[in-house]
Order: sequence, then C-alpha cells, then structure tokens
Amino acid sequence: MNNETKGNGAVQPHDASAAGSPRPEEFRCAWRLILLGAPGVGKGTQGELLSQRLGICHISTGDLFRAAGNRKGSEQTPAMAEAVKYMRHGDLVPDSTVWDLVREQDDSLRSRVGFLLDGFPRTLPQAELLKNFMDQEKLPLGAVVDYEMPESEIVFRLSGRRICAKCKAVFHVTWRPPKNEGVCDECGGRLYRRDDDNPASIAIRLEAYRHSTAPLIQFYRNLGVLAPVNAVGSAEEVYARTIVALEARA
Ligand code: AP5
Repeated sequence: MNNETKGNGAVQPHDASAAGSPRPEEFRCAWRLILLGAPGVGKGTQGELLSQRLGICHISTGDLFRAAGNRKGSEQTPAMAEAVKYMRHGDLVPDSTVWDLVREQDDSLRSRVGFLLDGFPRTLPQAELLKNFMDQEKLPLGAVVDYEMPESEIVFRLSGRRICAKCKAVFHVTWRPPKNEGVCDECGGRLYRRDDDNPASIAIRLEAYRHSTAPLIQFYRNLGVLAPVNAVGSAEEVYARTIVALEARA
C-alpha cells in the first residue's frame, strides 16, 4: 500500500499498522530521520517502507522537484524551472532553492509523528540550515541512516529503475519487474524511466555525491547520530537492518 501523495510530491503517512511492522508507539519518541547514501542506493525504496510502517511523513526533495517539473510552465516559479534543468543533467540544485522547497514542508517537519528526509540534506550548507532550524524549533534528530553499497551495484539499480507516473511506486526491470511490462502493479499507471537515469547523468550524480554529499557522513558522525547500514540485499533485508540500527538508538 502506498502512502498518500500530496499535490506537491510530499507524502503523508496513513498506514502505520502494516502486519508485523513496528508501530510508532513502540518507539520512545517521534522519529526524525535522514536517509543518506549515493544515488540509487535504495533511499526511496526504504523511505517508502519506513514511512508506511513507522507512520511518519516522507519528504523526498527529488520527488518534490519532479512534481514541480510536471507543473505547467506558467505554474512554475523561475527558481523551480531552473532547478528542473539542473536535475535533468544530474547536477545538484542550488542550496537556496532546495531550502525554500524544504521550508514549504513546515507542517511535515513540525509533525508530532515525525518525518523522514530522503535526498536532503545533500551539501554541508544544507545540513547547517537544517540543523539551525531543528535546534531553533527544538526538534531532536533521531538518526541519520547511511546506506552503503558498491558503485557497480548502484549503476545496475539505476539503469533498470522504472517509476509509476501515477502513484510513484518504484520497480526494477530485473529484481522487481511489474507483472505486465510498462504497467504499475499497484494502480495500473504508466511506468517510465527517469530523465536522469541515463549513463551520462548517472556519472554526474555519482561525482556530485562523492564531492558534495559524502562529507556529510563525518558531519553526522561528529553529532553522534550516524547509523551505517549495508544496502546490499533484498529491500526487506535492508529494511530489517535499518530497524535494528534504529532500535539501537531508541
Ligand atoms: P533524488 O530523486 O533524491 O535522486 P537520488 O539521490 O539520485 O536517488 P535516487 O532516487 O536515484 O535513488 P534512491 O537511493 O532513492 O534509490 P531507489 O530506491 O529509487 O534526486 C534527484 C535529483 O534532484 C538530484 O540529482 C538533484 O539534481 C536534485 N536534488 C534532490 N535533492 C537535492 C538536494 N537536497 N540538493 C540539491 N539537489 C537535489 O532505488 C533505485 C533502483 O534500485 C530502483 O529501481 C529500485 O527498485 C532498486 N532497488 C532498491 N532497493 C533494492 C534492493 N534492495 N535490491 C535490488 N534493487 C533495489
């Protein structure tokens, strides 16, 4: 079951009681989580599982930009139109544009049930902006899950990814193929390949990760919130490892 997607791409929780899943009340406090890791490591896949099963808001900056990109030209701000161009090439969107977009998610960031940030922050300035905001609002950060995986596996995952245009469910042509080619199992929507899942954009995204995002690992290690998780294996195996890492911090 998918969470509900708001018009702007952010996702609100509505099923915190999937069978066998930890319920939010089993944890001591609301989870405020960040998912870190290279492109294609499985942040979106795990973000979907975690937000459904823990009942927390899933905020993916990539999804928010893609939702903005789908708006008609006249409904896009100039900053958003510019952001979509960066994204298509695989380059990082400027920090100020990203922060404006994240701040629009105020309700989710302040939510009593907690939130999960997927794809944000991605640079040290973004991490500082978020930290200042959370300090000011007295919102403690629960954990930063850092998904680790060899690059060869990343390229395999991204090259075969397919996404539902309607409900955003994520498939893979080899490891999670849809029952009917090109059609979403969940809602019957059309499956498409992302603009930035081509070899040239993947190489640019990996370089942006190494240069701008990898330094966040040390930043969050210094804050004592880093939870490294091996991202190799099935989605359920990775999910189970994530829960073990989170429980160790609860
Ligand atoms: P974003 O959408 O965040 O992309 P990304 O970080 O490149 O991550 P991906 O969505 O590609 O991968 P993922 O880790 O979510 O993997 P997934 O679960 O889909 O950002 C896109 C762009 O937006 C950026 O390049 C940038 O331009 C811009 N942007 C966004 N945030 C920004 C920010 N903060 N600052 C600046 N710019 C920003 O899985 C990948 C594939 O693998 C799928 O096919 C999936 O089915 C498969 N898979 C998943 N798990 C497994 C598994 N366990 N085993 C086998 N296959 C698996």
